[in-house]
Amino acid sequence: MKLFDVYPVQDINIVKARGSLVWDDKGTEYLDMYGGHAVISIGHTHSHWVHRIEQQLEKIAFYSNSIRIPLQVQLAEKLGKVSGKENYQLFLCNSGAEANENALKLASFYTGRKKVVAFTKAFHGRTSLAVAATDNPSIVAPVNQTDNVDFLPFGDEQALQHYFDKQGSEVCAVIIEGIQGVGGIHVAPTSFLQLVRKLCSQHGALFIADSVQCGYGRSGKFYSHDYAGVDADIYTMAKGMGNGFPVAGLSISGKIPPKYSMLGTTFGGNHLACAAALAVLEVIEKDQLMTNAQKIGDFLMNEIKQIPELKNVRGRGLMIGFDVPEELKELKKNLLLKHHIFTGEAKPNVIRLLPSLALSQGEAERFLKALRSEVSSLSQKISEAAVS
Ligand SMILES: Cc1ncc(COP(=O)(O)O)c(C=O)c1O
Repeated sequence: MKLFDVYPVQDINIVKARGSLVWDDKGTEYLDMYGGHAVISIGHTHSHWVHRIEQQLEKIAFYSNSIRIPLQVQLAEKLGKVSGKENYQLFLCNSGAEANENALKLASFYTGRKKVVAFTKAFHGRTSLAVAATDNPSIVAPVNQTDNVDFLPFGDEQALQHYFDKQGSEVCAVIIEGIQGVGGIHVAPTSFLQLVRKLCSQHGALFIADSVQCGYGRSGKFYSHDYAGVDADIYTMAKGMGNGFPVAGLSISGKIPPKYSMLGTTFGGNHLACAAALAVLEVIEKDQLMTNAQKIGDFLMNEIKQIPELKNVRGRGLMIGFDVPEELKELKKNLLLKHHIFTGEAKPNVIRLLPSLALSQGEAERFLKALRSEVSSLSQKISEAAVS
């Protein structure tokens, strides 16, 4: 049997990892500024995380949601405390798309309505309604197409106001990333998120804060939407939640009443996933990783802004993007192959940095040194080519 070939992959076999470093099968060390796509929150193979998973594995890995699982209650309490949303309710599932799918479904159950408002360049996942709310027609299959989702320009307050004036009573949810990730690192303006909150409250719609990529402390606050000083009705989370163990969840406002069977999952909230997620929160709290993300993120962003060739440096905490001019388009590839540094990308020309929230000052400096050197050697090559 062959693999179903849907990913363009680098010819690199990573066999070992620790903190922000990973090693391939030939022993080459790489600096991971990509965090395996924003998934590594507390650092690869963190000893507390490994220990907690190992200990849990010895006891029980899985039983279904038909029995009491006290670890789920512990996780809900801890998440409520660390995220500052103690009177919210937790529903556990397995992936970011599943979290958004459930959030949209819940909003529709709660309001009895069908219209979802999403935004240009949004990415919410690949399941049916999540992908319909994703602004990328190439990944929306005919069966996913629906008139129930309307896209508005990201950050355009007038357009949002106008839409709600016309059909606010039909809207079940507005779904928005606090910082768009796949779309290329675009920070939602504070006043825009405040308007989303105001209009959802006025019109009885739910505000869904997609925090799958920008949440879990990555921005320097637990949810990046917190920068706007408003509470969403539902926060969805995944990537950083398990530091690589698949686990996702919805933090649901206390005003939304649960009903048996309205949501459900076989694997969601299993013992092992809860142990991994608890370990992550314990480390985030103990090592003050949100403060670290803020501090190292500010440092990185300020330093990258000093490199004139790189444009529109943006983001928050350790979710950073910048535009790479066409002449330097080899930059990402060279960082990987010459300097052994993983970075992320967004089409057409954005480099995305999504490292572990525990990235150290020394590791940030190692990245900057490589970045400056590669930008200058690529620029030099271009000027030499222009002369000859
Ligand atoms: C903002 C956002 N929402 C949802 C998802 C989907 O998450 P998953 O791939 O775990 O289904 C992603 C994945 O990149 C994401 O960035």
